[in-house]
Amino acid sequence: MRFRRPLYLFATLALQFVVAYGGSPFGEKNVIDSAGPSVTTVDVADLDGDGHDDVLVCSYNDRQVGWYRNGLCEGSGFEPLKTIVLSTAASPYYVSGEDMDRDGFVDILVGSYAFEELPFYIYYNDGTGQFSEVSIVNASVTSWDAGDMDGDGDMDVVAANYFFNEIVWFRNEGGRTFSKHTLGASVSMPVAVVLSDFDGDGMLDAAAKGWDIGEVVWYRNEGGGVFGGVQLISDRNNTYGTGLHLRDMNNDGILDLLVCSGTSTGWYQSFGNGSFNGQKEIQDGMSLNNVDAADVDGDGDMDVVGGTSTEVFSFENLGNGSYAVQQVDAQGANAVFLRDLDGDGRADFGALMDGSWWYNNLQGEPISPEAALGGVEWSPFAIWLPCTCWDILKPNWRVPYLKALFVAVSGMIPLIARRPQLHVAASRGGMPKTACGGK
Ligand SMILES: *[C@@H]1O[C@H](CO)[C@@H](O)[C@H](O)[C@H]1NC(C)=O
Ligand SMILES: *[C@@H]1O[C@H](CO)[C@@H](O)[C@H](O)[C@H]1NC(C)=O
Ligand SMILES: *[C@@H]1O[C@H](CO)[C@@H](O)[C@H](O)[C@H]1NC(C)=O
Ligand SMILES: *[C@@H]1O[C@H](CO)[C@@H](O)[C@H](O)[C@H]1NC(C)=O
Repeated sequence: MRFRRPLYLFATLALQFVVAYGGSPFGEKNVIDSAGPSVTTVDVADLDGDGHDDVLVCSYNDRQVGWYRNGLCEGSGFEPLKTIVLSTAASPYYVSGEDMDRDGFVDILVGSYAFEELPFYIYYNDGTGQFSEVSIVNASVTSWDAGDMDGDGDMDVVAANYFFNEIVWFRNEGGRTFSKHTLGASVSMPVAVVLSDFDGDGMLDAAAKGWDIGEVVWYRNEGGGVFGGVQLISDRNNTYGTGLHLRDMNNDGILDLLVCSGTSTGWYQSFGNGSFNGQKEIQDGMSLNNVDAADVDGDGDMDVVGGTSTEVFSFENLGNGSYAVQQVDAQGANAVFLRDLDGDGRADFGALMDGSWWYNNLQGEPISPEAALGGVEWSPFAIWLPCTCWDILKPNWRVPYLKALFVAVSGMIPLIARRPQLHVAASRGGMPKTACGGK
């Protein structure tokens, strides 16, 4: 009967593999701040340089910007809101964390959504989570992205000006000074804009989404800060909705556009040569305020989460172009994100509106954001172990016990294949409890 044991082991492993892929994608609901400001937009970035992502929020209603320090890995949860003291002439709607001076510390960008041009601020981080305010230009903006747009090596900003139907950009002139320029003819009521190299020429192009007609367009970077005219991407009207995100939705190494509107959520495949495919539907009929995507269940494809005004949902990618929708909570969200908050290598779900919450991801194999972009990675161990077993066992191949052992080891290949992802997560400061607790 001795030979049955490895078979039993193999069966157990196989069973774990199956079980890990079923059930609800998110575990317990946790509080970031139940009594905080009503959140309009969110970004996630390591603001104090401790290796863990903090949560950066903006409240249009409460005219507040601030951040919650993530102390989960120290076992202390999120700290109370640290408010960024804004100058009086600010009406913040959107916030983002970017290392604008490339000193290794994430700075905070705050712009104003108003029918007048108000100062656009960068809060420069001294590395400890202390910020100093610099007003770089006057503009009215609802969304922006940062990157080197003119190829001179420093960080510029592209921004959408909803009220004035304008896409503008702020050229970094060095020494914390910027000049404002128009990028090109705009979509109607632009609400979101992102930067990525869509045509593979090494320069950052821009993509934007409008509100009332809802076009999704892109602008080719022709070099030296010159951009070509509006080129239509969308084959349908994504009216309303502010979600426009760069995510590699099909794991081909090229960033695609994830879009949510007042009627549907979908994505546009970028071929990386300036061409895009039509909208691939994720859901039709729901009015999601915003969405995010990552490999939630660790099966190598991109899943999606989103929030309406009354509920939050997950959309599990079934791998055949369909998504299985599941309600995660009967509490709405304006702003959502998928990011590993507790350092276990899995993408947790942040949902913010009236209060800020996160749902713990307990599902699947641990993944890292890097791995989520690249799918399954093969460990040399996945090849080495069965080969070594084979070499050792082959001389005694007639013994059924050893045969079964080899089968068991081979059966572990899918698990071993994911080990590098665990290492990536570990190197970013994330492993379940033990790694967190060891800090
Ligand atoms: C913004 O406008 C105010 C008032 O016109 C002006 O004093 C200030 O210098 C402007 N700021 C920038 C960065 O141009
Ligand atoms: C999109 O909106 C425009 C302007 O309202 C309209 O002309 C066009 O027919 C719409 N397209 C679709 C696919 O509904
Ligand atoms: C871009 O690549 C796709 C897929 O390879 C191809 O079908 C398309 O014709 C290409 N477009 C251009 C403009 O080269
Ligand atoms: C995808 O797979 C699911 C479950 O396996 C199935 O219910 C669904 O009909 C499939 N969708 C398509 C478009 O084939």
